[in-house]
Amino acid sequence: MLFNKQNIFSVALLSLFTLSQSNLKANTSHYTLSYRDDPATTITVGWSGDDGIVYYGTTDYGTNYNSYQLNHSTDRILTHKGQNRKFSRLTGLSPNTLYYFVIHDVNGNTSQRFKFHTLSDNPNDPISFISGGDSRDGFSLLGIYIEDCPSGDCRERRKDGNTIVSKIRPDFIAFNGDFVQNQITSDIFQEWNNWLEDWQLTISSDGKMYPLVLTQGNHEDNSDMYNLFDIPQDEYYSLNIHNGLFRLYSLSSEVGACDNTQLNWLTNDLQNYTNTPLEPYWKIAQHHNPTYAMALYGLNQDQMDCWTDKFETYGIDLVLESHSHTTKWSWPCISNANNDAFEVDQINGIVYLGEGQWGAPHRSLDYTGTDQKSWIRDQAVFDNFFFIRASKDTIQIENVSFENISSIATINDDILGSFLPNGTTTWNPSNGNTIYITQQNVGINNTTNSISNIYPNPSKSTVQLDFSKIMINNTLEVYNSLGKLCMKEEINNVSSHELNIESLCNGVNYILIKDINGNIESHKIIKTK
Ligand SMILES: [Fe+2]
Repeated sequence: MLFNKQNIFSVALLSLFTLSQSNLKANTSHYTLSYRDDPATTITVGWSGDDGIVYYGTTDYGTNYNSYQLNHSTDRILTHKGQNRKFSRLTGLSPNTLYYFVIHDVNGNTSQRFKFHTLSDNPNDPISFISGGDSRDGFSLLGIYIEDCPSGDCRERRKDGNTIVSKIRPDFIAFNGDFVQNQITSDIFQEWNNWLEDWQLTISSDGKMYPLVLTQGNHEDNSDMYNLFDIPQDEYYSLNIHNGLFRLYSLSSEVGACDNTQLNWLTNDLQNYTNTPLEPYWKIAQHHNPTYAMALYGLNQDQMDCWTDKFETYGIDLVLESHSHTTKWSWPCISNANNDAFEVDQINGIVYLGEGQWGAPHRSLDYTGTDQKSWIRDQAVFDNFFFIRASKDTIQIENVSFENISSIATINDDILGSFLPNGTTTWNPSNGNTIYITQQNVGINNTTNSISNIYPNPSKSTVQLDFSKIMINNTLEVYNSLGKLCMKEEINNVSSHELNIESLCNGVNYILIKDINGNIESHKIIKTK
């Protein structure tokens, strides 16, 4: 080949093109999924890098983005802690359905093909999820490590846990705070960059991704999770899992247990879903700080005073805690008469799991031998998270140790409520390797139904409610899918009512109709833009 001027120009142009293509190749990264609305019909796709469009659908077209049936652009773009985050909120999804998606960015690059599974709208369907927290590294002063993990590299242990997630294929992950050091680090950008990079290890080899339900820890700044994962801005909320299988309360111990706004919201939500036709089979709460920590922190009197009483009154079954970097599971227990400790109550008690060891520096247990707390079933110190499978009559809890990753069997099912794969190493303490919480009172009251028609639904401005009887002294309350009260009206002596929903949040909302006898019924409405 003769290198005349024209050929040299062509080669230079080709090299430039190739170089620019390779530079453009990784223009999106740090992919995440999260919930900020109904987990059966919505999901938020997050990523770092360039703006783009999510192409998605129920048929797998690989990276042929144009073939997907649906697409949605970004709803939020921001920079936080040095991360250029993009969020695309997908709505109108079918429950219990596998979706495939790619992100096609403004430079014409397409991500790998991912997939996710929407949660169910049927409480008869089981679900399996992971609960864990505390994935931060140790820290040093003047080059000397003040606290560290035994292996000397906490980040590697975090990555081990993430890799195990990719093999277990949970339906979602309840991550309970303290992602990174944050306030005590010299390089917050690098820490979050590492965390999001490591999170990519949770993606299975077939591209399956798992949504996060997040709680704020003391190492997060306010709005960190709102800005990095697009969770609700309040950072405390409830989720209706499988339309009545369980209600998941994600609480902020950073806002504080006795904070009036959070406590009033929690109390009201618990009241709506206790001894009413809306009552789920189970209620589960997660918050970062333990009410009674087995290392370093001891009793949190605020939580004992303001939360424990509510949990016991309104029938919370299971509490997920973190923060102290140890591992415990309790017997079913209730607060004692002095409200300064727990005592075992096999009938009415709540099981507490904790306390955050997703790779974080290890600590020593404060109460061992004859000093071990009476309500603690087993306790230890090792890297782990909990695997929880809930069906309408049983919650089954195991604890996965970050060991023997290569021996975990590869599974590829996309079924909600899977069991742990063979070869997973689980904790096997003296009182057994599995906790079962069984339902003593299975059976949900029939929902009263006074509504004969709701239309139009979806709607962007007004919804007409037609009743099958004259409604006397009823209250209409409208909540978004995260349990936030958006609207309240009184109705009396009417057989129909027009509801103006222009001020509601977009997405799934629930109208609760309450009569003076305490009966409640609920109807789903969807507010469109
Ligand atoms: Fe913490």
